[in-house]
Amino acid sequence: MGGLPRAMVAGLAAVLLAGCGVVSPLDTPVPALSTTPLPPAATSVPPDAALRGTAPAGFAIGAAVAGGGHHTTAGYPDPFSTDAVLREQLATEFNSLTPENQLKWEFVHPEENTYDFGPADQIVDYAGQYGESVRGHTLLWHSQNPAWLPVGEVSDEDLLAILHDHITTVVGHFAGRIRAWDVANEILADDGRPREENPWIARFGIDVVADAFRWAHEADPAAVLYLNDYGIEDAGPKADAYYVLAQRLLAEGVPLGGMGFESHLSFDYPFPSGLRQSLQRFADLGLEVAITELDVRMPVDPAPSPELQDEQARWFADVVDACLAVTACGSVTLWGTTDRYSWVPSAFPGEGFATPWNDDYTRKPAYKAILGRLAEGR
Ligand code: XIL
Repeated sequence: MGGLPRAMVAGLAAVLLAGCGVVSPLDTPVPALSTTPLPPAATSVPPDAALRGTAPAGFAIGAAVAGGGHHTTAGYPDPFSTDAVLREQLATEFNSLTPENQLKWEFVHPEENTYDFGPADQIVDYAGQYGESVRGHTLLWHSQNPAWLPVGEVSDEDLLAILHDHITTVVGHFAGRIRAWDVANEILADDGRPREENPWIARFGIDVVADAFRWAHEADPAAVLYLNDYGIEDAGPKADAYYVLAQRLLAEGVPLGGMGFESHLSFDYPFPSGLRQSLQRFADLGLEVAITELDVRMPVDPAPSPELQDEQARWFADVVDACLAVTACGSVTLWGTTDRYSWVPSAFPGEGFATPWNDDYTRKPAYKAILGRLAEGR
């Protein structure tokens, strides 16, 4: 490369490094998004104080890896591939990663005959480099499906074949590298009925869920296969319907391995005080359970008071506590690490402050509370 200008060589190296999933150089400038300057990126987080170093042996403390979805219209570059502070945080604080959007249909399967595995491959490689496991999200959902999906104007046979090909191709591509898959996401409505917005459920009914699990299992027999939803943290019609569905799937020999509790919590509702019992109920069926998308949102105008921040800290710690109290609960995943990239303001206008890190990566009381509860162990 003797003849190339230095900047070009550095740029090329960064691209190559990114392609290999190697940590981008920490002196890469991080795009400034807030008026508060970012803290220096160098190893600012002592590993022994970090969440993953504090969690009990075998326990996964995870994070969604920001990218895709609402980030594409947020006016900043792709967070995971461009923000060195985020990358360092994902490496030092966590031992499990979930691509936030990069494995959803619209992202990974943008055209009928095109799969784009690049961004998810980078995340999975990065996880591997830091000894982290990966949760795959998701294979059968009503949302974030690509425009090409011919929902109405296609035969039963073809619609089913599209799902089969997708699951086989995507799960097969990551076989042995993704520990657990959210096979079916949000397939029941709040009243417990099958969710008709899901094009496959609308056409084939709830039985298509069993097919999805069987196909995923064939593509990667080692992956733990989950149902995943929100609004089931406390007992109620939706949680009950999932319980009945899980029992039925297990009785039919469907390779269901886990129940994921998203746990998008809000101060508009009481804390789900039945969480531990809810987790235990599914664990008693012989399933793994997990907290898969934890965040705690609140109104942001006026800015949350110190009291509300402390309350948020208690909620985070209480969710971690409920999981640690149930032997079959092996992981808590935070849906976003810093408010800077949280999905909450785009999905719930007027609300935010939902993660344990502020916009500028300073830690909230919630961070300390999670760390403290992890330190107590099971
Ligand atoms: C959200 C992402 O965080 C956003 O970036 C995207 O714009 C919309 O989806 N339940 C789920 C997740 O299962 O996939 C959703 O993620 C949040 C709710």
